[in-house]
Amino acid sequence: MNNADLSAYLSAKRQLVNGALNDILGQTSGSIRIVAAMKHTLMAGGKRLRPTLCIAATEAVDGQIDDVMNAACAIEMIHTYSLIHDDLPAMDDDHLRRGKPTCHVAFDEPTAILAGDALLTLAFEILSSFQVNDQSNAVKWLTVIHTIATAAGHKGMIEGQMRDIHAEGGQSLSLTELEAMHALKTGALIEASITTGAILGGGGGDQIEQLKIYANNIGLAFQVTDDILNVEGDPDIMGKGVGTDHARQKSTYPAVLGIEKSKQFAKKLVNNALQALEYFDNKSDPLRAIAHYVIARRR
Ligand code: IPE
Ligand code: IPE
Ligand code: MG
Ligand code: MG
Repeated sequence: MNNADLSAYLSAKRQLVNGALNDILGQTSGSIRIVAAMKHTLMAGGKRLRPTLCIAATEAVDGQIDDVMNAACAIEMIHTYSLIHDDLPAMDDDHLRRGKPTCHVAFDEPTAILAGDALLTLAFEILSSFQVNDQSNAVKWLTVIHTIATAAGHKGMIEGQMRDIHAEGGQSLSLTELEAMHALKTGALIEASITTGAILGGGGGDQIEQLKIYANNIGLAFQVTDDILNVEGDPDIMGKGVGTDHARQKSTYPAVLGIEKSKQFAKKLVNNALQALEYFDNKSDPLRAIAHYVIARRR
């Protein structure tokens, strides 16, 4: 898949996800304040990487996209809730997200907290709306719900966020600690996105194991790149502030390893991810192209 094909693929999946999210939240402009706040950040123009990975993993195991759309949307809602809370004054205190004022700036802090809570809860309402008349389908969905809940909760993303907040203010983490923090903070939900797509697409155990290796490597590469972009990215392209990690004395890859070594490390991770896909045929080409994109991206 060349760059033009990848752009077309990402754009098609983004549109699909945006359409499905709009359907879930309703097409109205949102006169109810809480729905308006939820939509403000959810529909602000995220890359939709996690739902796209979920869909691409389904395709890699020869599954049907329609079967994973609810899960893909639910994961994007959980990701968006985490961003709304991550930006709050008590956390990263950021003012720009997805090219718009952060939720608490556009509305107010209580509304942003509740909008995050509502998106997290809505995700599980959507995930649990599967057909119960088919037992094997029900088992798949329950496995997916368990996978996503574990990844998003205190054994996954929340623990990563805790470590991130507690490592602020100049205490530098060791590389091992930094890698563990990133794996939890960002990697866990990315891994869940990919395993969810593979499970719902009917993938076998061996396929799922290889996809987990792929996911762990691109998940870490993604967050290393997020750290690098926070140093040398263009805020107009990224739609969020830069230099904020340094200002808050965050533990990041550039802070611990330096920029060049961080870039080399991210490249090595992408190569590991590609190796894990050797097991798959050309239906996993989008996953291959996304692995390159994860570190080449400018937003
Ligand atoms: C930003 O995620 C937060 C991280 C976990 C690095 P994305 O870079 O996927 O942000 P959106 O969804 O495109 O806004
Ligand atoms: C966000 O991490 C991770 C989660 C919300 C779980 P960061 O704080 O590093 O990401 P940005 O730079 O604000 O998007
Ligand atoms: Mg943060
Ligand atoms: Mg942040």
